[in-house]
Amino acid sequence: MPAVNLKTLAKEFNYAMPQTSKSYLKLVGEKPAETAIKAENFSAWFGENCVLSGVTTQIAKGRITCIVGPSGSGKSTFLRSINRINDSVPRYKMHGSLSVEGLDLDKKTSSLTQLRAQVGMVFQKPCVFPRSIKENVLFGLRGHKISRTEKDQIVEQSLKSAALWNEVHLRLDQSATTLSLGQQQRLCIARALAVKPKILLLDEPTASVDPVSGRSIESLILKLKHDYTIIMVTHDIRQTKRIADDIMFFCSGALIECGTNEFMFSKECSEQSRLYLDEAFCEC
Ligand SMILES: Nc1ncnc2c1ncn2[C@@H]1O[C@H](COP(=O)(O)OP(=O)(O)OP(=O)(O)O)[C@@H](O)[C@H]1O
Ligand SMILES: [Mg+2]
Repeated sequence: MPAVNLKTLAKEFNYAMPQTSKSYLKLVGEKPAETAIKAENFSAWFGENCVLSGVTTQIAKGRITCIVGPSGSGKSTFLRSINRINDSVPRYKMHGSLSVEGLDLDKKTSSLTQLRAQVGMVFQKPCVFPRSIKENVLFGLRGHKISRTEKDQIVEQSLKSAALWNEVHLRLDQSATTLSLGQQQRLCIARALAVKPKILLLDEPTASVDPVSGRSIESLILKLKHDYTIIMVTHDIRQTKRIADDIMFFCSGALIECGTNEFMFSKECSEQSRLYLDEAFCEC
């Protein structure tokens, strides 16, 4: 992706975040939902390549926010910035402010442990460890002093929340790699839930599973929103229409627009969003 030039972008898309933020707040109701994540003029670079520029937005608690946009537009980078996974990438740097559940990410006072206790993440390709199903669920809790009974309760609860318990409760000691891809992805969700986060970050969680497993993960996500704030990157615009409460549209490293599902699929949204959502909707 070529380096992002802020001035060209601003001109090209004529984006004015105060305007978008206003419509967003207006549309989520008179009493705006509480904020889980707040970004102010947030930018990110890999070396000299600016991949996110001046992102200003708020993500509401207890809702499903879908992040959409063309490939390379910075969706995953934004998601990964939220739990600071990018920090370990050589030459990654960020500017501006990003706060998650009140933790200011650019302040050294907010430790990674504090942050990771609030935020769980699931990737596009199910990433299970070559260990038992049970050990996979408990992975994020290693080093914690937890009794065997508590561990069993956490495993059961997390697998039930991830709608996997019925399928695996008789084989918890079997290797996680024996599960189907759809089951592995739900196991990854169970592993993320085991640390009792407030926020779940999902990067294309249904992209590498079959349509039936995809639909079951989708209904799981809908159930989880009652207990978690969910932020999900997806290329599937029909899926976005089905499950998103709010939608953020990224293009070339800029947040072009965000708003409720109704707003983003209405004639009220900007031409750039409409063109992308219409076209991507027809293609998928
Ligand atoms: N670790 C990295 N090192 C260098 N550049 C990176 C790295 N990760 C991402 N990038 C670059 O940052 C830009 C945004 O990438 P990102 O993965 O956020 O896009 P995306 O919108 O998630 O795309 P996709 O839909 O294809 O997953 C791209 O130009 C990409 O090449
Ligand atoms: Mg991505």
